[in-house]
Amino acid sequence: MNEKLSIIREEALAAVKAASSTAELNDIRVRVLGKKGELTAILRSMGSLAPEDRPKVGQMVNEARAEIESAVEARTAALAAQERDARLKAEALDVTIPGKKRPLGKLHPLTQTYYEMRDIFVGMGFTVAEGPEVEYDKYNFTMLNIPKDHPARDMQDTFYVNDDIVLRTHTSPVQVRTMLSQKPPIRIISPGRVYRSDDVDATHSPIFNQIEGLVIDKGVTMADLRGVLDVFAKELYGEHTKTRLRPSYFPFTEPSAEVDLSCMACGGKGCRICKGSGWIEILGSGMVNPKVLEMCGIDPEVYSGFAFGIGIDRVCNAKFGISDIRLLYENDLRFLSQF
Ligand code: DAH
Repeated sequence: MNEKLSIIREEALAAVKAASSTAELNDIRVRVLGKKGELTAILRSMGSLAPEDRPKVGQMVNEARAEIESAVEARTAALAAQERDARLKAEALDVTIPGKKRPLGKLHPLTQTYYEMRDIFVGMGFTVAEGPEVEYDKYNFTMLNIPKDHPARDMQDTFYVNDDIVLRTHTSPVQVRTMLSQKPPIRIISPGRVYRSDDVDATHSPIFNQIEGLVIDKGVTMADLRGVLDVFAKELYGEHTKTRLRPSYFPFTEPSAEVDLSCMACGGKGCRICKGSGWIEILGSGMVNPKVLEMCGIDPEVYSGFAFGIGIDRVCNAKFGISDIRLLYENDLRFLSQF
């Protein structure tokens, strides 16, 4: 019995020493000290010993158990520390490695230009009104005093959805919608995409962008139109910018004017951007035709107003020195990332 005990003890201690993982140590603990373990088996077999030998053997078993237990414990602690070190080493992060550079997104040059223009008008007390891109013929044409036989109604210019519905050819129908839904005083701008069935070239695109403006109140005159556009021009292109009104014709305004701004690139001397003229044509405008006011339920004897429609694309191209409108719609990142 004595010998058997010391073999168990020696073997167990040797196994503990050789164990290379906490899992292995646990196996040893179960095999030697567990309920069905080798030492326990000896305790159980004590009944067959002479009664006088029992206390001695019992004591020896207990000593062996204590010794093996503390060896397992010590080795477990050592291995656990080793395992933790190894894990920490494997999981270590090198915080000095530079991060991956993500490209920064930017607003499209048209959007940048629109925001700048919008902020100038909002600064003068305008609010922003929205209208649909798929529009009633009635709002796009008829109520803007564009009669049935007007060239703007030609199938060549207009995308018809059906007899009554078009893709709006300008933002002017938002004037009609606003006058039908609001009472004067009115002071709105309305931005958005417009559509014309033009062939694509450097200066034409079937989709482009406008900002419509409309002011209706008592006693509004052409001088107010001029003043607003002058402030707009100076804020947009700088204090030295000049505004030039040229007589023109639009069915929905009377009188009408086209407005040029002195070229911001050359200051009016003539350059590539203004095609040598020193001026950039950016908008149509005029005093709202009394017929239009009447059709929209506003009494032209009491109220008057002015309106304008600015080409955002033109302003954008002049601002950034872009000479081909197609570039704005191709979504080529090599181009867009320059702005
Ligand atoms: N709607 C015109 C166009 O697309 C631009 C325009 C001219 C708008 C005069 C106006 C205006 O509001 O008064 O060519």
